[in-house]
Amino acid sequence: MRRIAVVPGSFDPITLGHTDVIARAAKLFDELHVVVVHNPDKHALLPIAKRVELIESAVADLGVENIVVASWSMGLLVDYCSDVGANILVKGIRTQMDITYETPMAMVNRNLAGIETVFLMPEPGHSYVSSSLVRQVSSLGGDVRPYVPHVVADYLQGGL
Ligand code: PNS
Repeated sequence: MRRIAVVPGSFDPITLGHTDVIARAAKLFDELHVVVVHNPDKHALLPIAKRVELIESAVADLGVENIVVASWSMGLLVDYCSDVGANILVKGIRTQMDITYETPMAMVNRNLAGIETVFLMPEPGHSYVSSSLVRQVSSLGGDVRPYVPHVVADYLQGGL
């Protein structure tokens, strides 16, 4: 049986913390879907199509073959999982705050469809990196290269 997992998120934009978790997860599963999901609780900087494009470029640089990049705006994330035959979600955990944020989502996704969530720790050097921090630094003209794949830095620093 193929082990298919999904890494969902806003990815607005994808960071080096995300790519670190994606690279680790790609080694654990036969097929890994990185899925951009609209989160109505967050004010988005980048359109979903641009986020997908940047993820595709960043993931190509990882040199792994088993990753699919997609977006999902049709409702529950578990319905995407069911469509592609995935039964595992993967989330990155940086701090205790992430555990507090992620635990209810993991419970709900398990209750809805029996989907388990696996938590992976990124490289400690990325543990303070977040998309919101990148958006803020970028909007104020700072250098985001330490925090994001080079395609993302080029895009943000080239102007939106
Ligand atoms: O990167 P984010 O914004 O923290 O990701 C949150 C996201 C998009 C994964 C979460 O909001 C989500 O799964 N939304 C899809 C809607 C859904 O299925 N909700 C019920 C379970 S949380």
